[in-house]
Amino acid sequence: MTWDKEKFDRIVEGIDASADSIADHLSREEIESAMTNLDSAVLHSMLHALLKFGLFDKDEKHAFEAVLEKGKISPKFNWLVQRWIIKLTEAGLLLESPEGHLSCPKKTNGEIIAQFWAGADDIWTNKISPEFTAYVRSNTEKLPELLGEQIHPLSLLFPDGRYNFIRSLYFDNLMANYLNRCICKLLQRIAGDHKGKVLRILEIGAGTGATTEKVLKALESFEIQYLFTDVASAFVTRAKSRFDTFHGIHFSVFNIDEDLRTQGLTPNSFDIVLAAGVLENARDIPESMNRVAELICPGGWFVFTEPTKEHSWILASQAFMMTEPTDSLRTETSYLDREAWINLLKEYGDESILFLPDLKHKLSPMGVHLFAKRFH
Ligand SMILES: C[S@@+](CC[C@H](N)C(=O)[O-])C[C@H]1O[C@@H](n2cnc3c(N)ncnc32)[C@H](O)[C@@H]1O
Repeated sequence: MTWDKEKFDRIVEGIDASADSIADHLSREEIESAMTNLDSAVLHSMLHALLKFGLFDKDEKHAFEAVLEKGKISPKFNWLVQRWIIKLTEAGLLLESPEGHLSCPKKTNGEIIAQFWAGADDIWTNKISPEFTAYVRSNTEKLPELLGEQIHPLSLLFPDGRYNFIRSLYFDNLMANYLNRCICKLLQRIAGDHKGKVLRILEIGAGTGATTEKVLKALESFEIQYLFTDVASAFVTRAKSRFDTFHGIHFSVFNIDEDLRTQGLTPNSFDIVLAAGVLENARDIPESMNRVAELICPGGWFVFTEPTKEHSWILASQAFMMTEPTDSLRTETSYLDREAWINLLKEYGDESILFLPDLKHKLSPMGVHLFAKRFH
């Protein structure tokens, strides 16, 4: 198959057209304001958690090690607290002077935090995702216990075994809906271009199946083989009972941090690898990207979504379930930005890269994007 830029452009052209209406009820200013208020509420909650440990009393200064010790922070979260401190310092809530000595110029309290939540709640709850702030808030109220491992983050994600918060994060969520619509359209176009052959798709980190469900329905009229995988066997078991009736679907545990061959996968065996919000969890992103590149057949596609900034709300919730990043791309941050993802993709060839929503789009400030590229 000879491919050129013209063909790539034809496949990706306007794939976001049907997704755009999802944000008709919101202006860019409202989205920016929702993000700013959420960020302020979370940052003040992080500071509040540190103050609760008795840190920064009477304008004391502390070294980072003292913060860890006084907070009785589990060693597995040292990296996370380091990120908090950098964020808090950037926001002016902590002061580092002289180098290595932290102080808190302006204290916060529950009342201030409640005001930021009030500013964030209206737009988030009514216009973006019904229980999203309830989920983040429930985490920010338990930060000391999360840091000390007295509470497991999964118990806050599935309170009383309920899936409400999962729904708000991945299903009833404006941004997830926008991205999933774009993914479905793109995959339909690729499938349409692949006529006469079975389209082989591998989904990694498929988790709750929020993206899987949409994609399987969108590709119902095409001949596909779909391998649903996740590192967590519980997700794979759950997916089996949900998606088993779809033609051509298979299920397996797959860990993107480990060798693909020892996990039963074969190089060059997929036309599309799909990953919705997964690569950020890799211990070493470039290493995992090499694995993905190996799995894709020549001319195949890597389609993935990722946060493109280090969101404070993630550092106060989902990051408690992340493995500490060990790659050289994340020494100064735990999440890659748009430029870093694009630079990484360019290491696999100079072909065009799809990036949505584009920077001018009103949803761009939400800081989660779709990337797609063909691999050789
Ligand atoms: C943010 S969730 C993505 C949700 C998923 N795409 C969905 O629609 O529900 C991240 C997913 O990546 C999975 N994951 C985390 N580390 C992984 C790894 N090393 N290899 C494969 N999957 C991983 C998690 O189990 C989780 O299901």
